[in-house]
Amino acid sequence: MAAAADMAKLAVVALLITAAAAADTTTPPPYTNHTVGGDNGWFFNPTTNTPATDYTKWAATQTFNLGDYLIFNTNSNQTIIETYNQTTYKNCNSTDALDSDTFIYGESNRIGESFTVAVPLVKVGNTYYFSDAENGVQCQKGMGFAIVVGQGRGLPPSLNQPPPPPYAEPPVADSSQTPPSTVSTGQQERFYNSGFRIRNGANLRIGLLVILSFGLLLA
Ligand SMILES: *[C@@H]1O[C@H](CO)[C@@H](O)[C@H](O)[C@H]1NC(C)=O
Ligand SMILES: *[C@@H]1O[C@H](CO)[C@@H](O)[C@H](O)[C@H]1NC(C)=O
Ligand SMILES: *[C@@H]1O[C@H](CO)[C@@H](O)[C@H](O)[C@H]1NC(C)=O
Ligand SMILES: *[C@@H]1O[C@H](CO)[C@@H](O)[C@H](O)[C@H]1NC(C)=O
Repeated sequence: MAAAADMAKLAVVALLITAAAAADTTTPPPYTNHTVGGDNGWFFNPTTNTPATDYTKWAATQTFNLGDYLIFNTNSNQTIIETYNQTTYKNCNSTDALDSDTFIYGESNRIGESFTVAVPLVKVGNTYYFSDAENGVQCQKGMGFAIVVGQGRGLPPSLNQPPPPPYAEPPVADSSQTPPSTVSTGQQERFYNSGFRIRNGANLRIGLLVILSFGLLLA
C-alpha cells in the first residue's frame, strides 16, 4: 500500500519536473535586426507626397522583441522619433513630449547624405515611430508605424549595462541633434533594472517548483 502511494507521488514529482524543464527550455526567438520598410528604407517621397511604402503593413510582417534593433536606412529629409506615448504619435508632434518617453534619433548634420540609424528595442509594450519632418506633414501623410515589443529573451548584456557616472549635457545640445548613443540617465537605469527583474523572475519560478517537489516527496 505504502509503496503504491510513494510511486504515485514520485510520478507526480516526475511530471512536475518534466513540465518545469519543458517550460524553461522553450527557446525564445534570436535577436533580430528589422530593416524598416525593407528595401524601401525610411523615406518620404516629396513628389507624390507619400511614404516610400506602407510602414504599418511592413511592421505587421515582423515580430519585435527586447534586444532587437530597428535599422533605419534614411537621409536628413526624414526624422526618426520613437515614443511610448500614443498621443504624441497621433499628434505627429513631439514638442511637448516628455524626455523620458520620447527619443529623437538621426544625424541632422548629414544634409543630403544617406545614413543608417540602429534603434534598439529596450522596453516591452507599445512603441511608436514617426517622422515629423515638414512640420508634421510627413507623419500626417502616413510616415509612421506602431509596434508591440515582446519580452523575447530579454535585454542582452550590451544593452543592459549599469549606468555610468553622471554625464553633463553640453550647453548647446539641441534635442533634434542628439545621437542615439547619448541616452538619458533615466533610460540607462531602465536598462539595468529590467534585466535584474527578468533574472529574479526566472530564479523564483524554478525555486518554487523545487520546494513544491520536495514537499510532495515528504508528504
Ligand atoms: C544588429 O544591429 C546592431 C546595431 O547596429 C549590430 O551591433 C548587430 O551586430 C546587428 N546584428 C546582426 C545580427 O546583424
Ligand atoms: C503624452 O503626451 C501628451 C502630449 O505631449 C501629454 O499631454 C500626455 O500627458 C502624455 N501622456 C503620458 C501618459 O505621459
Ligand atoms: C530632400 O528633399 C528635397 C526637397 O524635396 C529634395 O530636393 C532633395 O533631393 C532630397 N534630398 C535627398 C538626399 O533625397
Ligand atoms: C506642436 O506642438 C506645439 C506645442 O503644442 C505647437 O506650438 C506647434 O505648433 C505644434 N507643431 C505643429 C507642426 O503642429
